[in-house]
Amino acid sequence: MRAALTALGDELRRLRAAGVKHIAVSDEAIAALRRTAASRKRVPAPQAAEPEPAAKPAAKPAAPALPSGPVVTLPAGDKAARWAALKSAVQADPVCRAHVRPGMQVVLGVGNLDAAVMFVGEAPGAEEEVQGEPFVGPAGQLLNRMISGMGLAREQVYIGNIMNWRPELPVSADGKQYGNRPPTAAEMAYCLPYLKAQISVVDPAILVALGSTAAQGLLGPGSFKTLGEVRGTWREFAGKPLMITYHPSYILRNPTNRSKRLIWEDLLKVMGRAGMTISEKQQGYFLEK
Ligand code: URA
Repeated sequence: MRAALTALGDELRRLRAAGVKHIAVSDEAIAALRRTAASRKRVPAPQAAEPEPAAKPAAKPAAPALPSGPVVTLPAGDKAARWAALKSAVQADPVCRAHVRPGMQVVLGVGNLDAAVMFVGEAPGAEEEVQGEPFVGPAGQLLNRMISGMGLAREQVYIGNIMNWRPELPVSADGKQYGNRPPTAAEMAYCLPYLKAQISVVDPAILVALGSTAAQGLLGPGSFKTLGEVRGTWREFAGKPLMITYHPSYILRNPTNRSKRLIWEDLLKVMGRAGMTISEKQQGYFLEK
């Protein structure tokens, strides 16, 4: 148990050094930590003096730096063939595989290869790494509702992520990872060639970055301080117009009409630029009565 707690401390220090300021910790993880702390308190003090350690244990080496991102070369052929080759490449990528725990999956984007709109999220979470598909958990359910508010079905758009694996945190005593953390700049830089390759296959008319991390991943680290500075504005990535908006999980945390309206106004801009018809009803979604 002591080793697990030491590993947790080491990992938190590593994340802080890598610039991670916040990590999400689920209620289950907090409960597991409480159980751990409680069981440590119950352990009786050792009767005999602990032997002196023979030597100071060697400091844990820093996590190895990620290599630079892969060079993704796609075969000639139609979109389906090129996307299938890309999927095989990311699934075989040794760096991605090394970051995925046994039984979990590397995750590539999913959707219509002729989509006009491509959403770009952050990274797979617990459900996504099991199913091997982006946005299938609670944030995904909300994203589906946003898409249907636009008059589209999930199958008509393309949904990808900046990252292809679930950013790791130490596992709990049951071997499971409960929390999520945002990817580091180095992790996003490693995976970016896979996102660019998806953009080149799908060739969407418009990209939509969901949340601050995805937007920083596309625009570059430090390109803005707060999402409020850039959300609702058009930028450019890979030669495509890029709309920046909130991540659906922001709405899950702040389910107010005001926050829903903000994200909806960004999506109205996307619909307008994509030449979609916008009904009066759609214009008025989430306006205070
Ligand atoms: N959040 C993301 O940004 N991506 C996912 O795939 C799931 C949740």
